[in-house]
Amino acid sequence: MSEIRANISQNDIQTLCDTIQKYNQIEQGSYDRFNVKRGLRNADGTGVMAGVTRVCSVDGYYIEDGELIPREGNLYYRGYSMTDIVAGCNAEDRFGFEEVAWLLLFGTLPTQEQLEFFCGLLGRNRELPEDFIEDMIMKAPSPDIMNKLSRSILSLYSYDPNPDDTSLENVLRQSIGLMAKLPVIMAYAYQVKRRHYYHKSMYIHQIKPEFRTAETILRSIRADKSFTDREAKLLDTCLMIHAEHGGGNNSTFATRVLTSSGTDTYAAIAAGIGALKGPRHGGANKKVCDMVESIKADVKDMTDPGQVADALVKVMRRELGDGSGLIYGMGHAVYTLSDPRASILRAKAEEFAVGTDFEPEYRLLRNIEQMTPQVFAAEKGITKPICANVDLYSGLIYKMLQIPDDLFTPIFTAARVAGWSAHRIEELLTCNKIIRPAYKSVNGHHEYLKLQDR
Ligand code: COA
Repeated sequence: MSEIRANISQNDIQTLCDTIQKYNQIEQGSYDRFNVKRGLRNADGTGVMAGVTRVCSVDGYYIEDGELIPREGNLYYRGYSMTDIVAGCNAEDRFGFEEVAWLLLFGTLPTQEQLEFFCGLLGRNRELPEDFIEDMIMKAPSPDIMNKLSRSILSLYSYDPNPDDTSLENVLRQSIGLMAKLPVIMAYAYQVKRRHYYHKSMYIHQIKPEFRTAETILRSIRADKSFTDREAKLLDTCLMIHAEHGGGNNSTFATRVLTSSGTDTYAAIAAGIGALKGPRHGGANKKVCDMVESIKADVKDMTDPGQVADALVKVMRRELGDGSGLIYGMGHAVYTLSDPRASILRAKAEEFAVGTDFEPEYRLLRNIEQMTPQVFAAEKGITKPICANVDLYSGLIYKMLQIPDDLFTPIFTAARVAGWSAHRIEELLTCNKIIRPAYKSVNGHHEYLKLQDR
């Protein structure tokens, strides 16, 4: 595959960038002056209300006398506590992701019969169109599986006999197809990356329709196709946790924005994937792993809280890590004291890591979680609570499942497609208004000049 080479000198690009910088200055005070909600956030950090939903609620604070009061986080799927759903499925030692997907799509807990029907439906829809692997996944391989995923989802449009129909029947058919196929596309895209970028063997295993989503993923990414039930149930818990997170999260909002224009399902879901790829969103789980490696290299003893705190100061001062100043896996737009997803993953990480070679890394993550609030307060000069988010422990869990970091965010995607689909359907059925906010222009007006007068 030949690379695109920018046919431009470094000097020219620098000059052009300087011009862009010069004409793209916005005074930070403008946001307050024009009452513009930067990042669609109110002054107290809460999100601007942009819609009404029945799909999910994310609860991390309450407002009293106009003041934001932090509280323990809760997440509700269609009114049912996500924590209770996970605990219920774990207690009965059964898979739960498909139950969650049903709940999100149809609004109610499935009966045994409905669950079996739905699992069968997903299993029957996992197969990819003929030649799709060769034509769409193997050609033009991507160093990033998220990029490959969005391109593959967009290209499914060409194989759909009725791609643009936004009736409920058609969008539901497409949504079920995407939920079924996305884990398979992800696994095959990873195999292609192994071959093309890592020069390793590529395994394209047949899909077993009777397998649940978590089993399908583990089977298709492992060379020997084998996994234990305990491993599959752990991955299933991760899928349940990642399935949905309200209408305001970046990728779901992106999906709803595109949906509101009347565009097709493939375009709307590909937009969600593009948004989720970002390191401030789903891409943070991979970033946590990179940050952990740089902290490990910086400290002598990663189980020493003091040494870890010193390293976190360096991260925030951009002296360590990726230079963004962010402690990945910490902080959340809604959760304040705790993120219920992180609480579940922390317990799972402890259960699987203690007594194994992964225990020191688990201890390091615990130290990051415990030391960040004081480092954050000291460095930022604000006392806003900061808690571990879903990404802090998920990477360690995936590592323990021998899942390569290439697949951390794609697995998030394989789960979240359920939430995106539920929101797309809700947007189509209930909103019927194109999302179209406004931007205050601060540029003034200029008289057009002839070329020779500039
Ligand atoms: N490390 C360093 N600084 C952080 C931080 C973190 N983990 N989380 C928030 N901050 C900073 C913000 O950048 C912001 O700084 P600014 O005022 O100079 O712009 C300030 O603290 C207040 O941010 P806040 O309003 O509380 O958070 P947010 O809603 O803007 O951002 C996240 C939420 C998740 C994007 C943010 O916490 C973050 O970037 N975390 C790390 C990435 C991550 O783990 N993402 C996964 C989310 S599930």
